[in-house]
Amino acid sequence: MPAPVAVVGAGLVGAGWAIVFARAGHPVRIYDAAADVRAKVLGGIAGNVADLKHFDLIDDADAVMSCITVTDDLGAAVDGVAYVQESVFETVAAKTPVYAALDTLAPAHAPIGSSSSGIPASAFTEACKTRGRMLIAHPVNPPYLVPLVELVPAPWTDKSAIDVTHDLMVAVGQEPIRVNKEIEGFVLNRLQGALLNEAWALARDGVASTADIDKTVSAGLGLRWSFMGPFETIDLNAPKGVADYAARLGPLYHSVAVSRANPKAWDEKLIADVENQRREALGADKLDARRSWRDRRLMALAVHKAKAAQKIR
Ligand SMILES: NC(=O)c1ccc[n+]([C@@H]2O[C@H](COP(=O)([O-])OP(=O)(O)OC[C@H]3O[C@@H](n4cnc5c(N)ncnc54)[C@H](O)[C@@H]3O)[C@@H](O)[C@H]2O)c1
Repeated sequence: MPAPVAVVGAGLVGAGWAIVFARAGHPVRIYDAAADVRAKVLGGIAGNVADLKHFDLIDDADAVMSCITVTDDLGAAVDGVAYVQESVFETVAAKTPVYAALDTLAPAHAPIGSSSSGIPASAFTEACKTRGRMLIAHPVNPPYLVPLVELVPAPWTDKSAIDVTHDLMVAVGQEPIRVNKEIEGFVLNRLQGALLNEAWALARDGVASTADIDKTVSAGLGLRWSFMGPFETIDLNAPKGVADYAARLGPLYHSVAVSRANPKAWDEKLIADVENQRREALGADKLDARRSWRDRRLMALAVHKAKAAQKIR
């Protein structure tokens, strides 16, 4: 029987983490500080789990749901667990007291991974006595459909905590990467940030509409990115591989980078313009439906990838 796991903070990301662990048979104890979140979290998860069953990505929806319990007592949530996944608000002020509590409440051997999108673990674990078992385990939303997890140590994180978390993530079907040192935004959001900053700048400069910038990714770059990264992409895009590509196009990319050497913040006027374009394309009342559509597309992609992996084996 897989060991129990605690999920602390059960908003968008915490609820997704509960599915990750329960799907793999771990008893999952959810704790959230907000009573309304605790009251509705299981209903939301049940809907996601039913969709997973519909796409044949799990065998037994009831078995997954039976693994998950919700408590209003943090101590009870972490009692006897092998791992804690923290997903509270993305502020140092929210995370620091949670780590101070987990420092004494969570079993000493249990690593504590934070879903933090960009705040490094050193910003909220420094004062903890057991800080050696605290690290970043940053997922992509929703974690049960997008498997990447960035494992990022603070300067004082024990290698064994990273190793144990790495092995747990592999065992539950996630795809962890090891980030060697702390850096704001880690790897994923630095890559995403480079693309987002350029997208906003192109929109600001009137180079193309937001719809056409989006299409450049959805009908262009993104198709390859669902199965290979930027280095492998360019390795295949020049006859002799990556060095050949760098010789041909390195100067162009350097010139593009120099042209953005003084980045501007996303200002109010620009944000209003992009918001108008997006709301014309999709009314605010349709955002939830579109999120569900996105998740079902991700499920269909997961089915395709599983079949493709079987063929390769
Ligand atoms: N939304 C994303 O796309 C995404 C992706 C990856 C990582 N993350 C990270 O995951 C974390 C959670 O983000 P989210 O999008 O789920 O936010 P959210 O607002 O949906 O959920 C946060 C939850 O934490 C709870 N909470 C706050 N303080 C708490 C406390 N002291 N104890 C217990 N619960 C507490 C809140 O009640 C809320 O339910 C953040 O660090 C965020 O950066 C978010």
